[in-house]
Amino acid sequence: MAISSTRPNTLPALRRLLIVGSGGREHALSWGLRRCPSVEVVWIAPGNGGTKSETSGGTSDQQVQIAETDAAGLLSHCRAEAIDLVIVGPEAPLAAGLADTLREAGIAVFGPGAEGAQLEASKAWAKQLMQDAGVPTARHWAVSSEAEALAVLKQVNCPLVVKADGLAAGKGVTVAESIAETQAAIEEAFGGRFGAAGAQLVLEERLQGPEVSVFALCDGERMVLLPPAQDHKRLEEGDRGPNTGGMGAYAPAPLLDQDGLEQVRQAVLEPTLKALRARGIEYRGVIYAGLMLTANGPQVIEFNCRFGDPECQTLVPLLGPELAQVLQACAHGRLDLAPTLTIGNQCSACVVAAAKGYPNSTRTGDSIDLRLDSDAQLQLFHAGTRLDQSGNLVSSGGRVLAVVAQGRDFDAAFAAAYGGLKQVHFDGIHYRRDIGHQVRTD
Ligand code: AMP
Ligand code: GLY
Repeated sequence: MAISSTRPNTLPALRRLLIVGSGGREHALSWGLRRCPSVEVVWIAPGNGGTKSETSGGTSDQQVQIAETDAAGLLSHCRAEAIDLVIVGPEAPLAAGLADTLREAGIAVFGPGAEGAQLEASKAWAKQLMQDAGVPTARHWAVSSEAEALAVLKQVNCPLVVKADGLAAGKGVTVAESIAETQAAIEEAFGGRFGAAGAQLVLEERLQGPEVSVFALCDGERMVLLPPAQDHKRLEEGDRGPNTGGMGAYAPAPLLDQDGLEQVRQAVLEPTLKALRARGIEYRGVIYAGLMLTANGPQVIEFNCRFGDPECQTLVPLLGPELAQVLQACAHGRLDLAPTLTIGNQCSACVVAAAKGYPNSTRTGDSIDLRLDSDAQLQLFHAGTRLDQSGNLVSSGGRVLAVVAQGRDFDAAFAAAYGGLKQVHFDGIHYRRDIGHQVRTD
């Protein structure tokens, strides 16, 4: 996309929103964006069992069964409902160009076009951009054949991280412990384990350190940073077991204080946005920097072109009612016209409840009993849930829901979140009891 995108002189009215996606992230966004006083209706497509159509106060939530990849269907819904702003949650529709289609039709969208979404959709592309921009990241080799990959391994002669280039639903990375394991991961990827996503690989040197997620809301030129959050990717307590989409999170992560966040802005996020611009890409959406805090400072492990899940559920309750206008200002390329995003000074804790068998052989269809309503301090965000034909809530995915709570410190926030989970019942429910162990004292 050329940098000719329009930038209005004032921000238009903001009454009617559409959120695209069906996860916990999108449920949290709909809850948070509804708090903007000018917003009258928040549509969600296709949503989940927690995003049913309802009206409360002056705002209504409306669910519409349009798939997130159905660009034509979403565009006609935007036209029919006079949508003022679309927020695209997941990476797949962004990588497929949904934001481009909507923007070309004159609709304001928070989310990058297909070119910008390559930050996540092609690891080789993202690494090249980081290299060009001087962004600190692990040394890497992009390879497109098994012979080439094995030659790199032979030359480097140490275990490497093996990454499928394309989108692989979070399963495309092997952090190998040995040269033999590196070789096996290379052979498997070129053997077709990740389909087209693995036709090209990125081999990376292995870094060490704690991980933290930083989110920059961008208007193509300017950015606003959210407080850092820490995710818990492993299934089991003690950070063991298989990788998952994320079993819980907390924010603000003290791993990065105000100075550390400023360093990340200057060394990582601003150069990245500038490099995107230099490629003619007007990036209007969130840049999610997955960082590792190494002995040599923060290094980028990966970029994503969307909010993290469950980091988003954790962060949204800390953000002020200006969020909707800030996202709108990003979508219009005019963050300078947005109100300041207020950020609460509480601690936020998020615990994900997963279905039996997740992540390897998830069982769905379990009936869910909930005795919990969201309020200003405790929220229940659905993810893998749906209403069955009789209107009963049942599980429909691996990460079923998340309970999020805020408190004056992390002990209070986690006590409230775990207390909330006691009001949630379904057969096979499991969740980690040690989310936030890094910041809890109990
Ligand atoms: P990604 O899908 O790129 O986020 O990678 C998944 C996980 O693999 C990350 O969250 C890290 O824990 C780990 N990882 C990825 N790249 C590296 C690296 N270069 N060094 C060490 N661990 C890594
Ligand atoms: N929480 C990790 C992710 O959203 O990719």
